[in-house]
Amino acid sequence: MSMLDLNDVANQLRCPSGQAGEELAEMMFKSNSNMIYKTVDRLQLDQKDAVLEIGFGSAKHLPYIFSAAKNIRYHGVEISPLMMEMAAKVKESLEQEQIELTLTGELNSLPYSDKAFNHCFSVNTVYFWSDPVKYFTEIYRVLKPGGSIALSYIREDFAQEQPFAKEDVFHFYRTEWLIRILTNIGYSHVERWQYIENTFDKLGNKVIRPFVVLKGKK
Ligand SMILES: C[S@@+](CC[C@H](N)C(=O)[O-])C[C@H]1O[C@@H](n2cnc3c(N)ncnc32)[C@H](O)[C@@H]1O
Repeated sequence: MSMLDLNDVANQLRCPSGQAGEELAEMMFKSNSNMIYKTVDRLQLDQKDAVLEIGFGSAKHLPYIFSAAKNIRYHGVEISPLMMEMAAKVKESLEQEQIELTLTGELNSLPYSDKAFNHCFSVNTVYFWSDPVKYFTEIYRVLKPGGSIALSYIREDFAQEQPFAKEDVFHFYRTEWLIRILTNIGYSHVERWQYIENTFDKLGNKVIRPFVVLKGKK
C-alpha cells in the first residue's frame, strides 16, 4: 500500500466519507465491536438512563446497547455525514424511539444542557480530538452528578506502530496522562481495564491488539 493510501486510511478513520468510507465503516465495526461491547458493559446501564456517545461510526452496535437496557435514551454525536446516514438506517431498523443522532463540528463542545446524561462514552475517537482537555471538560458539564464517562482506545505503544497512524491525523495519549487529566478536571474513581484481543487491523490483517477502557465518575 502506497503512502498516499495510508494517508487516505488515516483520514477515513478520522471522518469516513464516500464509497471508501462506507467500506471502512463496515470493517471498523468488525474490528472494533468487541471493544465497543466491553465499553458498554463497563457502563452498567440502567433502564431509563440517558446515554451520550461521541463518534458512533456506523452505529451497528446499537442493538447491543439496547439489549443491555432497552429503555435507555440514546444520543449520539458524529462529525461524519456519511456515518449519520449509515446510523440512520440502523435507527430505522430498530423499534426504539429514543434514539437521537446529531451531526456536530469539531468544536470540543456538545449541543446539550448541563447535567443531561447519566453516561457518556466514546470508542476510538479521542485520537482525533483537537483539544481533549476541553472535550473532557465539556463532557463533565453535560454529565449528571454521579454520572460516568467511559473512554476506550488502542494502547498508545501499539497504536503508534500502525502504518496508517499518521502523526498529523492521530494523537495517542498515555493512560497515566489521561487519568491525570480526568482527575484534574474533577472526575473521581477513575478506573482502568486493559484487554488484549484477536482482531483485524484496518488493512484487514489479523492482529493481537491491546486496548484500554477508562471509566470515571462525576
Ligand atoms: C475510528 S472511528 C471509530 C468509530 C467507532 N466508535 C468504533 O470504535 O468503531 C472514529 C469515528 O469518530 C468520529 N469522530 C472523529 N472526531 C470526532 C469528534 N470530534 N466528535 C464526534 N465524532 C468524531 C468519526 O467520524 C468516526 O466515525
